[in-house]
Amino acid sequence: MSVIKVALLGFGTVGEGVYRTIQSHQKELKAVLGKNVEVVAVLIKNKEKKRDINSGVLITTDFEDIIELPHLDVVIEAITEKEPSFTYLKRALIKGYHIVTANKEMFSSHGRELIELAAKQKVSVGFEATVAGGVPIIQTLQQLLKVNNVYEIQGILNGTSNFILTEMREKKQSFFEALKLAQQNGYAEANPSNDINGFDAYFKLMVLSEIAFGEQPEQKYVKINGITDITSEQIEMAEKLGLHFKHIASIERKEDRLYASVIPTLVSKSHPFYHVEGVENAVHVKTDLVGGITLQGPGAGMFPTASAMIEDLVQVFQRHSTLGNSLKNKSIIKKEAKDQDISYWIVSNLRNHFSLSVITYYDQLSENVFLIKAKKSQLLQLCEQNDALISYPILGNYELKSEHEKEALQLLID
Ligand SMILES: NC(=O)c1ccc[n+]([C@@H]2O[C@H](COP(=O)([O-])OP(=O)(O)OC[C@H]3O[C@@H](n4cnc5c(N)ncnc54)[C@H](OP(=O)(O)O)[C@@H]3O)[C@@H](O)[C@H]2O)c1
Repeated sequence: MSVIKVALLGFGTVGEGVYRTIQSHQKELKAVLGKNVEVVAVLIKNKEKKRDINSGVLITTDFEDIIELPHLDVVIEAITEKEPSFTYLKRALIKGYHIVTANKEMFSSHGRELIELAAKQKVSVGFEATVAGGVPIIQTLQQLLKVNNVYEIQGILNGTSNFILTEMREKKQSFFEALKLAQQNGYAEANPSNDINGFDAYFKLMVLSEIAFGEQPEQKYVKINGITDITSEQIEMAEKLGLHFKHIASIERKEDRLYASVIPTLVSKSHPFYHVEGVENAVHVKTDLVGGITLQGPGAGMFPTASAMIEDLVQVFQRHSTLGNSLKNKSIIKKEAKDQDISYWIVSNLRNHFSLSVITYYDQLSENVFLIKAKKSQLLQLCEQNDALISYPILGNYELKSEHEKEALQLLID
């Protein structure tokens, strides 16, 4: 076989980026794979749209045309929603084709099943593009997992939310002005609900959870709060205190439970996320051996995402027997934070659930607002008991310096 034959599912932002990159990087692909790579078929939904695709390529709205092709090596999928993506990829694996996907919504639910099926079929699954676009976090985690115990992952995983929070702070815009700009710039979807309500970041966090911990927490135990309630006034007040609001997805294991959240968070200057601005993504991984590692880069867009998929394509062919087996089994891999980090949290509406015995420090800022020091697991347990509790963690080093700061902190949440 001197040519690797590719079928592309979807020709939107990501699919077109993959197609163009395969054309523009033939020389590089041939150098690493020893073969040409050729897109032989493209699946789309709307045949009326004009597309710049070579005349020899089959363009179809019918997946049967693709699955019945006589020669195919890999199916690269960049369509939207769980279905029909999952069904198409399952069928591709059953036919013995490698698959590469960017579809986090589908993969966060069905990733394990696809990877197990791929292992049975002796083919591979690439899914780097499902998390943080062009940032190679999946490959990094898979390398680290060989010997390091990962005990916590934190991420700015949604570029749209980060762009909105940055615009609100730097240009003093309202949430809706910043959202409109994100849509005009093509960062946010026409329906940006998953971005601003935290579900896009949640899907990505669940993919990371499978890789790092071999399992996912049940959704009902994951605290998911979007950024829609954050006001320009809160952002301005936070900045005066040397803090930036970021929308942070995080997960860690304590004993035999995973604690995950996707929530607005205050970040101090000492934390690597303080300077992650605009549409950038970042992932901070804490492990027992190497300590903390931060990866940062473009989390979305045509070519950053295509980059992740093309690198996956190469991986799939270079070491396809190992890539497909890369999700760990929960019962084999059991990672635990020996000393779970204690952070500051600003909390209000504690009501009767305030249990001083689980909290190492607290400072009452007003009748209803407290600055406390607690482990994430303790705080999330309090949140589970009390729906009305509002809390913002403070990541990085932070010390209260004056009475004036106390008042300002209280206004952040009151
Ligand atoms: N955009 C990013 O930066 C980014 C980054 C990482 C991951 N992703 C993920 O990558 C995937 C694609 O994103 P995108 O931004 O490229 O989306 P998009 O621009 O909306 O493109 C989607 C493409 O899929 C096709 N499609 C959708 N449903 C289909 C169906 N049922 N059958 C056949 N074709 C179908 C559409 O066909 P028509 O052209 O005919 O409408 C279109 O070509 C999504 O799962 C997304 O979450 C995107």
